[in-house]
Amino acid sequence: MNINNKHYRTIWLKEDNPAVVQVIDQRWIPHDFVVEDLKTVDQVVTAIKEMHIRGAGLIGATAGFGMYIAALEAPRSSREAFWRYLVKSGEKLKSTRPTAVNLEWAVHRQLDAIRGIEDMDEMTQAALRTAQAIADEDADSCRRIGEHGVKIIQKIAERKNGDTVNILTHCNAGWLAFVDYGTATAPIYKAHDLGIDVHVWVDETRPRNQGARLTAWELLQEGVPHSVVADNVGGHLMQHGMVDMVITGADRVTSTGDVANKIGTYLKALAARDNGVPFYVALPSSSIDWKIQDGIEEIPIEQRSPEEVKYVSGWDGNRIRRVLVTPEESPAVNYAFDVTPSRLVTGLITERGICEASEEGLLLLYPERRKG
Ligand code: MRU
Repeated sequence: MNINNKHYRTIWLKEDNPAVVQVIDQRWIPHDFVVEDLKTVDQVVTAIKEMHIRGAGLIGATAGFGMYIAALEAPRSSREAFWRYLVKSGEKLKSTRPTAVNLEWAVHRQLDAIRGIEDMDEMTQAALRTAQAIADEDADSCRRIGEHGVKIIQKIAERKNGDTVNILTHCNAGWLAFVDYGTATAPIYKAHDLGIDVHVWVDETRPRNQGARLTAWELLQEGVPHSVVADNVGGHLMQHGMVDMVITGADRVTSTGDVANKIGTYLKALAARDNGVPFYVALPSSSIDWKIQDGIEEIPIEQRSPEEVKYVSGWDGNRIRRVLVTPEESPAVNYAFDVTPSRLVTGLITERGICEASEEGLLLLYPERRKG
């Protein structure tokens, strides 16, 4: 996507040094634009854990490049020691954030690609090719999600005789959460490009404010009309007919269509159901966990530092400041994700098309996953 009219992806190899991976450090957006160099596995681990980069697709792509960096820094005394280092690095990367399944998916894809190779230089080259393939496929999946999802927006625009289509989104499932385009935002960008009058309600998404900081900034860069709202406004907007559809992203979707996404998504789905507003979830297949059925029981929900709830950060006109908003002694709890049961999801928008949020719906799009 574009930043000041220059095209960027969220992760790439440094032009004059392919041993360095570069990412946009999202902690500073929208107030500053900082590119970070990642040269070691430990730096990649920190970047994921401390959310310099975040979002399911980008976490997966970064883990993919992390495995390439692991191959560069692995000991070359023997093939066995080299392989052991890769496995250990994969474990380190997987332990950074538990909910987005893309992370373990990318690490296992790397290990599967490298396992059968004997020569360590060839193993490193395979890790690089696989990292690039994961990133390219992520961008391509998001582009396709846009092509499928825009059809829903087109239908709503036709029904409204060209009146503004109001779309509510939660957190940031935009291009910053992926390699390019995003998932929830891809149909919106496509609709905007086609000249459809869209307006986006952007949930601020406490405690880390991914909506207020990142989605708002992205939409501004692309010239898409939007309004940032506090997290609890969505229900009111829906009761007053001010939301035509909800689109969110996903961090992990079960084989039965339950969806883990940023904390607060479930409440939006409940409000949408109560008000007859369609609730769509957009995701690439790398976010589907085919091994599990029950999202509430089986999806690990990340708990982050209580400090993220107790403090807020913002721009004071000169610099970013962090201030306390609770009594200093009050304990806080910080669940980062929740699960929306499939019965509340109108449809899943994937790179292969739109399906019902159910096992049968997913298998119609991914028949190769059918057992027996
Ligand atoms: O904690 P984050 O910022 O990594 O979480 C991201 C989300 O939950 C987003 O809502 C998004 O929908 C899923 S990532 C594409």
